[in-house]
Amino acid sequence: MRAVVLVGGKGTRLRPLTLATPKQMLPVAGRPMIEWVLEHLSAHGITDVVLSLGYRPDVFVEAYPDGRCGGVSLHYAVEDEPLDTAGAIAFAARGAGIDETFVVVNGDVLTGLDVTALIAFHRARRAAATIALTPVEDPSRYGVVPTDADGRVTAFIEKPPADQAPTNLINAGTYVLEPSVLDRIAPGGPVSIERTTFPALVEERTLFAMASDAPWVDAGTPATYLQVNLDRAGETPIDPTAAVDASAQVTASVVGAAARIGSAAVVSRSVLLEGATVGAGATVRDSIIGWRAHVGPGATVSGGSILGESVAVAAGETVTSRLVPAPAP
Ligand code: GDD
Ligand code: MG
Repeated sequence: MRAVVLVGGKGTRLRPLTLATPKQMLPVAGRPMIEWVLEHLSAHGITDVVLSLGYRPDVFVEAYPDGRCGGVSLHYAVEDEPLDTAGAIAFAARGAGIDETFVVVNGDVLTGLDVTALIAFHRARRAAATIALTPVEDPSRYGVVPTDADGRVTAFIEKPPADQAPTNLINAGTYVLEPSVLDRIAPGGPVSIERTTFPALVEERTLFAMASDAPWVDAGTPATYLQVNLDRAGETPIDPTAAVDASAQVTASVVGAAARIGSAAVVSRSVLLEGATVGAGATVRDSIIGWRAHVGPGATVSGGSILGESVAVAAGETVTSRLVPAPAP
């Protein structure tokens, strides 16, 4: 089976990390996010993937020059302008000549979802489209999806105001689509699957959804990106090429290749990307230190801060809950 993987967003919530690197090429426990996503699809029988690209497509194309990644064959669909989710799916699927049932995933979602079961559920209901659902504590950041007892979707409410969500089951960002759905997406401009296409299918009663309690994270925010790194790092959170002083305290953190941590430094619940350095006696807590960024001796970086590529924090300085450099307003 074929899949379209959406990776064309600008990743604004992960700036400054995404200034030059698209979100799905950011490392998760030492490997680009996209590789985890594609490997999971491959394990469920997906053989060919169309990467739906817009923002910095060059980074993907250069990373996988032989057109293979995570066990699948890659094809690239590069948008001239952002087409939004449905526009991007239709552009990618038409370009690749997809004319059979296919899978779509948001490329920033890491999940253990049983995609094979989702496809079987879709076929059993003869649905035009089927959405995977996952329960979350705060549905207001997501697409909220109430269903009837058969799994037929009764409404699709993208990012409702807090406290106005009818259920805590949300769009988990994996879909099975019939090619007929493409016919209803007008070519040539942006169309949102969440705000236009799914609501139209609700009216036709051809949209279904299957809930799953498989592990699920949308890694598109600083807190969830950090979480997913910690989750996936498993037994080896410190890269073998990193140099950690014996007197440093490193707990619940992911330390990337060639990173260095000085004497008596404290690093907890944080991610150090490749080549990041933490000086002697410095503290890094609940934060992300970008590629080759430097935390000076005795400095403190904490509270969900993100240091961009090669940023330096001076000795003794305190950075709390800040993005450095700050994104342009
Ligand atoms: N090619 C292309 N073009 N891709 C895009 C575009 C575009 O114009 N806009 C967004 N994307 C990609 C992003 O890169 C991402 O992989 C995916 O589409 C979803 O966009 P996000 O910006 O991450 O959306 P979200 O997280 O706020 O919400 C979406 O995902 C939630 C689940 O994680 C929605 O689908 C929600 O309904 C859903 O609950
Ligand atoms: Mg997202």
